[in-house]
Parts: sequence; structure tokens; C-alpha cells
Amino acid sequence: MKYSRIIAGTMTWGSWGKQFSKEAMIRLMNHCLAHGITTFDHADIYGGYTTEEEFGNAFAASGIDRSKIELISKCGIQYICDKRPNKVKHYDYSKEYIIWSAEESLRNLKTDYLDLLLLHRPSPLMQADEIDEAISKLKEQGKIKDFGVSNFTPSQTDLINAKTQVTVNQIEFSITAFDAMSNGSLDHMTLNDITPMAWSPLGKIFREENTQNKRVINLLIELMPKYNATADQLILAWILKHPAGIHPVIGTTTEDRIVNSIKALEIDMELEDWFLLLTTSQGHKVA
Ligand SMILES: NC(=O)c1ccc[n+]([C@@H]2O[C@H](COP(=O)([O-])OP(=O)(O)OC[C@H]3O[C@@H](n4cnc5c(N)ncnc54)[C@H](OP(=O)(O)O)[C@@H]3O)[C@@H](O)[C@H]2O)c1
Repeated sequence: MKYSRIIAGTMTWGSWGKQFSKEAMIRLMNHCLAHGITTFDHADIYGGYTTEEEFGNAFAASGIDRSKIELISKCGIQYICDKRPNKVKHYDYSKEYIIWSAEESLRNLKTDYLDLLLLHRPSPLMQADEIDEAISKLKEQGKIKDFGVSNFTPSQTDLINAKTQVTVNQIEFSITAFDAMSNGSLDHMTLNDITPMAWSPLGKIFREENTQNKRVINLLIELMPKYNATADQLILAWILKHPAGIHPVIGTTTEDRIVNSIKALEIDMELEDWFLLLTTSQGHKVA
């Protein structure tokens, strides 16, 4: 496996969340590594284009061996913030921009290569030939080891895959966002040897109070003693049971919750409990 089964998302390590100091970031990196999480998920835009640099400074000071971790980053979103004088939020997949953005990520992360570069969101204007030129050049130069997409539909993935091998699609997937099981997305990835990664794997369960979440939480509370597990572990175990081999990209920065996430790998959820969770979330039985 090229990436740890559980991946650490860094979106809220910096100014979009916890605003960790260099020391706190080093501690969290080491905590992840000590528990078997070796892959860290970034995007150029996190923290308004600031989190990669903060993580990179911490990584450089940490003494962690580069070959012991995998770094993912993403490009393409031109976001409006202090660092970018854009008129409108948009996507840029020109050859020059992809190369420039990947090189910026390398500089910020203080590394010579990315293990994986993802196109962050599909653009109506993206051109497979041009993307292929950029990715081929970055690969030839050893600046990226692998290439993938994020939030792409099967046909958008095919469009890019026809020119450049797509190895990963990072999509939203959880007990409250499970369309990928019925819209062909996960089947398409399995058939094309594309590794699925799931962002927001806990869904909105701990973030929003609504009737769907209440139903799921009540069931989780019932199931917790049976599996001797916490609610977040059961939500992850539900994802991990899917045969597509999904890698959850966890967002928690709480040390205990990170350990919980890894322990979810030990839970083998029973078939009927899996369906009970699905049907409870969707609010009706399967056909
Ligand atoms: N490709 C994309 O388009 C895309 C989009 C969004 C995100 N991502 C990636 O996915 C990663 C994860 O996204 P996410 O943050 O939405 O994931 P998540 O794992 O579903 O949510 C984690 C959040 O839930 C909070 N939380 C509250 N109660 C919790 C509990 N009992 N157990 C665990 N967490 C609890 C955490 O807070 P504490 O930190 O305080 O524990 C954290 O803020 C991001 O960091 C980013 O790398 C990618």
C-alpha cells in the first residue's frame, strides 16, 4: 500500500482551525507516525495558502525522515484571499499553473517531491492534453511520484485518465454522504484500479444537529457496547468495510481521536449492522 490506510488531513492544522505552533505540529506529526499514520493530506489552499509552509517548517525542524512519510497535495483552486488577488474564485489547470503550483507546494513543504498530486476539483475548462504535459514533466523531473484527482465523476476521471494515469480519486464519503456507492463512482474506481480516499469521513455527524444525524447517533450509541468502540470508530469501520478499499482522510487534530481512528481498523462490522447504519442514515430500508 502506497499510503497509510488512515490518512491525516491537515486542513485545520493552521489558520483554518487550530493554529498550531511549530512545536505542536511536530508533536502531532510524531503522534500520527507512532500510531501508523504515515500519509499527510494537504492542499495548496489550506489556511489561505499558508498551512503547507507552516507544516513544512515544522517538518524540516522535526528530524522526521522524508522516506518514512507520504505527502499529498492538491492544486487548481484559485481562491480569493490575501495571498491571491483573484477577482473570482475559479479553477486553473493550465500547464504553467499546475507546474508552478506543484513547485510552490514543494518549496512550502520543504521537500523535493510529492508522493501524490491531485487536481482538487474538476473544471469545465480542463484539457486532458495540457494536464498530461504538466504531469509528465513533473514526473520526469521527479517532483511528483503519483497523480490523481479529487471530487471527479467517473466521466471526468475517464477524460483525464485517457491521457495520464489517474491512481487516486479523493471524494466526499461518509455515513451521511454515500452517493458514491450508487452513482457509479466507487465501482468505476474499483474497475480502473483507482484508490478511493474519503474526505470528511465523519460526515456532519458531530457538526450539525438534524434528524438524520440524531437517528444515526442514537444507533451508534446502541452499537458502541457491542463493539466496545466509540461513535467515531464505528463511523470509520462502516467506511472501511466497503470492498473498494477506501482510505479515510481524517480531520481530527485531537490525539485520542487519532488513536481511535487507527483502532477502527480492528473492527469488523457485522453485515446487518452495516446495513442498519445505512438504512438508519437514509431513513428507509433497501429495496
Ligand atoms: N479533497 C477535498 O476536496 C477535501 C475537502 C475537505 C477536506 N479534505 C481533507 O479531508 C480532511 C478531513 O476533513 P474533515 O475535517 O471534514 O474530516 P472529519 O474527520 O470528518 O472531521 C473532523 C472534524 O470533526 C471534529 N470532531 C468533533 N467530534 C469528533 C469526534 N468525536 N471524533 C472525531 N472528530 C470529531 C474534529 O475536531 P477536533 O480536531 O477538535 O478533534 C474535526 O474538526 C481535511 O483535513 C482535508 O485534508 C479534502
